[in-house]
Amino acid sequence: MPEPIIKTEHLSRSFGTIKAVDDLSLEVPAGIVFGFLGPNGAGKTTTIHLLLGLLDPTRGNARVLGYDSHDQAGEIRARCGALLEFAGLYERLSAEDNLDLYGRIYHMPAPDRRARIKELLTHLDLWDRRKDRVGKWSRGMKQKLAVARALFHHPPLIFLDEPTAGFDPVAAAALRNDLAALVGREGVTVFLNTHNLTEAEKLCAQVGVIREGKLLKVGNPDELRMNTGGPQAEIVGHGFSEQTLSLLRERPEVAHAELQNSHILIELRKEGEIGPLVSLIVQSGGEVEDIRRGKASLEDVFLTMMEEEKK
Ligand SMILES: Nc1ncnc2c1ncn2[C@@H]1O[C@H](COP(=O)(O)OP(=O)(O)OP(=O)(O)O)[C@@H](O)[C@H]1O
Ligand SMILES: [Mg+2]
Repeated sequence: MPEPIIKTEHLSRSFGTIKAVDDLSLEVPAGIVFGFLGPNGAGKTTTIHLLLGLLDPTRGNARVLGYDSHDQAGEIRARCGALLEFAGLYERLSAEDNLDLYGRIYHMPAPDRRARIKELLTHLDLWDRRKDRVGKWSRGMKQKLAVARALFHHPPLIFLDEPTAGFDPVAAAALRNDLAALVGREGVTVFLNTHNLTEAEKLCAQVGVIREGKLLKVGNPDELRMNTGGPQAEIVGHGFSEQTLSLLRERPEVAHAELQNSHILIELRKEGEIGPLVSLIVQSGGEVEDIRRGKASLEDVFLTMMEEEKK
């Protein structure tokens, strides 16, 4: 196994009595988009700040690209790109001057800077607007520029903290497509904070789920689905009663059955025939119009996990 690009051991950070990050032990392999998924206040941003050495841990440690995040934070920050919660662009400078300035900070020679500006802005469809003052740009355009800046000096690892937060669904989908294409082209490892499940499913090869500072699960989105949500069947029709539901719940293959928008949603313990279940529904007076089979979405899985933690 190659060295993980990020490795944390018991990483913890408290603010007074709040445990923002609590005993986080995590390994992220190089070459993937890793999604750090959790609700508001889960500790995602604090984790990125710890990994970049912008914040000191109260306990535990983190190694990023082989460097200790406390003792060698400068080495880490010189080698990583980041799009943090506040993009921090210079609104009075043009797009190309923003990138150029950034390249200078990283001591990139002028011809390299010029080539890189053209390459990235072209890929993000911003090349024609490169002379505009960034202050006049839309939020989506600014965020794309911030992504370009994070990638500008060819870092092997970038951190993106909720890149599509506050976007409308169309703009979010467009930025995700751009991100997926760019990340593939550049072969960069990405640590992506998100509370958006669609985003995690679209972009991430692996997902870590965090809540109240604690890591609940790590795996690829499919594995998470398998561990938590089994196969499902949705029975569309009418005349379903509480009695129908309790009969279903008595069946050994049924993990869960509930009425949702007048449909019956059944979660099965494993793949298999549902004919007997449908007969049972009909016998108890229900009328079945349609049966939809499927697997739990990552969203179902996520909600289940959050519920289980609360118990
Ligand atoms: N500088 C700080 N001072 C005090 N408390 C803080 C500080 N930074 C974070 N916290 C607390 O730590 C917890 C985790 O916050 P964090 O910003 O890491 O969450 P998050 O997962 O990024 O949430 P969001 O999705 O809302 O961005 C929260 O309870 C927050 O109030
Ligand atoms: Mg955050």
